[in-house]
Amino acid sequence: MPEQKFKPVRKAVFPVAGLGTRFLPATKVMPKEMLPINDRPLIQHVFEEARDAGIEEFIFVTGRYKNMLEEHFDFQPELEHTLELRGKVNMLTKVRDSEIPAGKLFLTRQPKPLGLGHAVWCASKIVGNEPFAIILPDDIVNYKQGCLSQMINAYNQHGGNIVAVKDVPRKETSKYGILDICEDKGDTVSIKGLVEKPDPEDAPSTLSIIGRYILQPEIFEYLSIFEKGAGNEIQLTDAMAKMLDKQDFHGLRFKGDHFDCGSRLGFIAANIAYGLNDPEIGEGVKGILKQY
Ligand code: UTP
Repeated sequence: MPEQKFKPVRKAVFPVAGLGTRFLPATKVMPKEMLPINDRPLIQHVFEEARDAGIEEFIFVTGRYKNMLEEHFDFQPELEHTLELRGKVNMLTKVRDSEIPAGKLFLTRQPKPLGLGHAVWCASKIVGNEPFAIILPDDIVNYKQGCLSQMINAYNQHGGNIVAVKDVPRKETSKYGILDICEDKGDTVSIKGLVEKPDPEDAPSTLSIIGRYILQPEIFEYLSIFEKGAGNEIQLTDAMAKMLDKQDFHGLRFKGDHFDCGSRLGFIAANIAYGLNDPEIGEGVKGILKQY
């Protein structure tokens, strides 16, 4: 094994305590992260991405009405027994694949949805003093190598902090957090600034961050100031912006199709794309699309 230059990324934080207002009333009781893309909920898509990237500890930041998220990853003896009796081997394999082994799931709560930065801070004691990943279940990336795995490769080269970035149309920069970059190396860029929702003419680039981060534990020092930003929420990007002149930050132009499943349109697009790619129902989905 080649010697590792940087401390490994072993833990991933999944902030899942938001209200999901864009999907109301569907999310009145059911967590947004349980909405399915094809045959599995959003949270399982991102769990699998983290597991495939070699993550060993999965940290959920949950809140009120979110118990279903931890139940989903639990052992379900009655269900497994029934599937066994009925000889449904494929289904049984799928169900078992959605379990998180003992000792690997950690739960903490965010009592009030005070913002993404606050949700991440709630995991600080469980993360401790090591680099860690943050994955937002809203953002799904479809590619043979998962987005987090691509980021860990980049981290093993550069160390420091890595965020997943994608180019957006210039006329839409005012919807996103946009990077100010000091060097563009193609697949990666080094970052010197972050600008929240700039007008197209003021945007320093057209690269926006999506919900994947590898951060150093010093981020917790900045989050613990609890400063409120856009939307009167404690923002992760504000804490990252404060760390930019002290640590290296790189953006990775990841490979794959990205879907913003926190919006209804992105959610429908993801269901169409994953449905079309599914060997069992792909042809059927194509037929439905033609029909409409
Ligand atoms: P969003 O910005 O999509 O907010 O959060 P939301 O509440 O989930 O959804 P809308 O905008 O009301 O429809 C991005 C991610 O951060 C988590 C969410 O659960 C989601 O995974 N989050 C957000 C928290 O865990 N806590 C918060 O206070 C805010």
